[in-house]
Amino acid sequence: MSEATIESVSHENRVFPPSEEFSAQARISTREQYEALYRRSLEDPEGFWREQAEALHWFDAPETIVEWKPPFAKWFVGGTTNLAYNCLDRHLDGPRRNKAAIIWEGEPGDIRVLTYFQLHREVCRFANALEGLGIGKGDRVGIYMGMVPEAAIAMLACARIGAVHSVVFGGFAADAVRDRMNDAQAKAVITQDGAYRRGSVVALKAQVDAAVEQCPSIEHVIVLRRTQNEIEMREGRDHDWHELVANSSSTHQAPALDAEHPLFILYTSGSTGKPKGVLHSTGGYMVGTYLTSRYVFDLREEDTYWCTADVGWVTGHSYIVYGPLANGASAVMYEGAPNAPDPGRFWSIIERHGVSIFYTAPTAVRAFVKWGDDWITKHDLSSLRLLGTVGEPINPEVWVWYRNVVGGGRCPIVDTYWQTETGSIVMTPLPGAVAAKPGSCSLPFFGVSAKVLREDGTEADTNEGGLLCIDRPWPSMLRTVWGDDERYKQQYFSRFEGKYFTGDGARRDEDGFFWVVGRIDDVVNVSGHRLGTAEIESSLVAHALVAEAAVVGIPDEFTGQALVAFVTLKSGNTPSPELADELCQHVGAEIGKFARPKRIRFADAVPKTRSGKIMRRLLRDLAAGKEAHGDMTTLEDIGVLAQLREHEEG
Ligand code: PRX
Repeated sequence: MSEATIESVSHENRVFPPSEEFSAQARISTREQYEALYRRSLEDPEGFWREQAEALHWFDAPETIVEWKPPFAKWFVGGTTNLAYNCLDRHLDGPRRNKAAIIWEGEPGDIRVLTYFQLHREVCRFANALEGLGIGKGDRVGIYMGMVPEAAIAMLACARIGAVHSVVFGGFAADAVRDRMNDAQAKAVITQDGAYRRGSVVALKAQVDAAVEQCPSIEHVIVLRRTQNEIEMREGRDHDWHELVANSSSTHQAPALDAEHPLFILYTSGSTGKPKGVLHSTGGYMVGTYLTSRYVFDLREEDTYWCTADVGWVTGHSYIVYGPLANGASAVMYEGAPNAPDPGRFWSIIERHGVSIFYTAPTAVRAFVKWGDDWITKHDLSSLRLLGTVGEPINPEVWVWYRNVVGGGRCPIVDTYWQTETGSIVMTPLPGAVAAKPGSCSLPFFGVSAKVLREDGTEADTNEGGLLCIDRPWPSMLRTVWGDDERYKQQYFSRFEGKYFTGDGARRDEDGFFWVVGRIDDVVNVSGHRLGTAEIESSLVAHALVAEAAVVGIPDEFTGQALVAFVTLKSGNTPSPELADELCQHVGAEIGKFARPKRIRFADAVPKTRSGKIMRRLLRDLAAGKEAHGDMTTLEDIGVLAQLREHEEG
């Protein structure tokens, strides 16, 4: 077999069409309707995107829809707009004025609801406060907060005045904050005294104090009081959020900003090396998040939508804040952990607020499986009508469990594929139109020309694994790596000239459905079979006792590489050599003998990034008996690594 292809071993062939009832009310009801629109978006991108953009407010209408000088794109050229205006002001003259924009629940149980009118007022106040400190158009502002409404207010206020926000996930520590603020040359940081996490207080302000010592560009630190823990306030540099806004006017005129005005920088680690500052700009990102939110979540005025991501990740940017608010939706925001005070928390939130659309990550769904169905079934989840996932391939068994146990067998699931870099969802089933296949992110969204390519740039055959690329620009694509155009070219456009390479391996099946088999760095080669790890993991997770599995390759003198599987069992099961054997047989029977792991290592948990992705790079080192190397700052829990090492020695 050629070096260039990835063998796909998945046998998943179940299909789940949406119910007639769901399709009948959906914005897009049939596959034909989707296909007609999709074709139009590629055949007449100018016409398609001009029409879509018209749903939003522009101070000056765009002149040119797209200017593509590979690898640099400009969208809606000549247009001026304001994203915060589109998320807020636009809704104030109609029935959305007093509709809930954000329904927030704190971890201790406190609840706040901000209507569009109230959210607009708070954003205006904070925008005035920022301007009062001399922060304006083009200045970079760090946001290092927990999941409080003020995090969204801070983002929207920055967007409103044209300041470029860079949100740093609250789980990162001082060094990560420092590096990101220095790279962005930020002028201010917005933070909190502390954030609640699983009953304790994470001292955010203290981390900022340590970071800012080494950030010469930072002039101001704005501090929201949330947990009332003791903090130091430095005279002249530090400002109390509440005092600032108390003295600020609640009216603010949103300026007209160029469509290509930079909107935000979000740092993403990739698998190795220095974090990259992914830069998004205003107009294209606005249209992309607006349109995907509307069609992928089939948003209705009366929906209560909940995305469980953190605003520190792109999912929080696009699908808690900008996309839903641009649509005038009511979005739930939850401050804390899914198991605080117990693993029933998410389900009680859904019941309490009547959530109808629920969007989460496969890592969370695997945790729900592990915690057991009882936590879920004791709540009334009948308000749910649509489920979604994002962040990793979802194992088909987990998908089916999600559909049956959480969705009561009646809710379509949208498995949405996208990246920090893509800005908005690029592949997904449209829930009323496309029959989903568990584990597949289905079909490209409008305007996305997705291709599976061989190493030589030719298109892979049906079901032949290859490299997942997008060969045309799309509105919400990243514009560059902040301050490093060269890295942007190298990272995304050097593999195939003029085509965006995602870094993922994929195959496309006979229905045109895409199946992501994992990051290309994670591909293993066993006896000449190049295998994506996701499919072997899914086979393990299909075993009744397995909650989670991570598969990596180690060097092997006979087979080139051999597979080692790290396996976490569902609560209440005990590892044994017999079970390890059984799991190997199970993979052999499901996929083929060549795919049988050489070793199974049971683990209480596997190392994950802070956004919940399994860090196979660390497991590879561990499996090969090497010290783990490379960037470790994105590791969620360093203790997991130590524990895995102990297991090995013990
Ligand atoms: O490998 C793909 C995986 O997550 C990567 C993007 O990660 P990040 O930039 O952190 O953004 C996550 C939230 C958008 C992708 O390159 N990924 C994301 N969604 C899926 C996925 N893999 C398979 N199926 C998905 N639905």
